[in-house]
Amino acid sequence: MSYNVALNFEDGVTRFIDCNGAESVVDAAYRQGINIPMDCREGACATCKCRVESGSYSLGEYIEDALSHEEADTGYALACQLRPTSDCVVLIPTGSGACGTRQESYVTRIRDVRRLSDSTFALELEGDGLGALDFLPGQYANLQVPGEAHRHRAYSFSSITADRGGVSFLIRNVPGGLMSGFLSERAAPGVELVMNGPFGSFYLRPVSRPVLMLAGGTGLAPFLAMLDKIVAAGGSPHPVHLIYGVNTDRDVVETERLEAFTRTIPNFTYSICVVDANSGYPKKGYVTHHIEPAHLNDGDVDIYLCGPPPMVEAVAQHLREAGVNAASFHFEKFAPSIS
Ligand code: FES
Repeated sequence: MSYNVALNFEDGVTRFIDCNGAESVVDAAYRQGINIPMDCREGACATCKCRVESGSYSLGEYIEDALSHEEADTGYALACQLRPTSDCVVLIPTGSGACGTRQESYVTRIRDVRRLSDSTFALELEGDGLGALDFLPGQYANLQVPGEAHRHRAYSFSSITADRGGVSFLIRNVPGGLMSGFLSERAAPGVELVMNGPFGSFYLRPVSRPVLMLAGGTGLAPFLAMLDKIVAAGGSPHPVHLIYGVNTDRDVVETERLEAFTRTIPNFTYSICVVDANSGYPKKGYVTHHIEPAHLNDGDVDIYLCGPPPMVEAVAQHLREAGVNAASFHFEKFAPSIS
């Protein structure tokens, strides 16, 4: 039996390896060209200490000087002894470069580019290597603006396309922005674009309690990928609620997809709120105005938040002031770059 193990490095790079039931994570990584720091290889020196964020596994044999009971109880493990018994996400406390690896790079082509609204583009890329691409739902890639060799922009994946040969993104239209200018004026099917990734620690953990998703503008993108993942897993055992906030009615996108999720994930619900007081949507104002006690489940909730920095900071402050102590709180800020 072989398992898919995501190695998340300290610098945000994620690499995926296959790990068969008989080999340790260190051995599987080494076989695939990734040298996780190690020394004794016997569970004695702690050089290879890591933390398993999700999945099931066996800790193997080690001495307590290398891994205490408390550490083992909180997810720490020794990669030279660690044997996954399911797909896992493992945090490696060192940079990818120190392990002799780096992010994957793909030469892609534009399959489709569309303006979903004044404020949002949908970009779909395809490429020969993308069939092997994996990412944790919620992670992002860097896209190189064509003709601008060293200028990248980071965007969350909004999906892997149904044929698994492509990936898609929601991209905010920033007047005067480098990528926005490219998408408005030069982007067309067939144009090549270099993509690096995946990156990031903002991704969906196993759904073990109610989930509250808070999206601002194109911060919706990672949640679409997360909801795809929940669909692929056969649904959610717990309620999942999304609050999607935008500035004006014209900024609202992907409602058909959200509606489809309510059909494929029976305990998924969502609401849209709009800052503009003249909005035709019933919920007006900011995301924070529409977080209800039921969504917070007395703190037994995993909260995911993605949006522009002022929105992320406002929500975090709101939760702090309301005394909300969520079981887990994950956030991602994206800032538009113009130059
Ligand atoms: Fe020494 Fe793993 S390499 S404990």
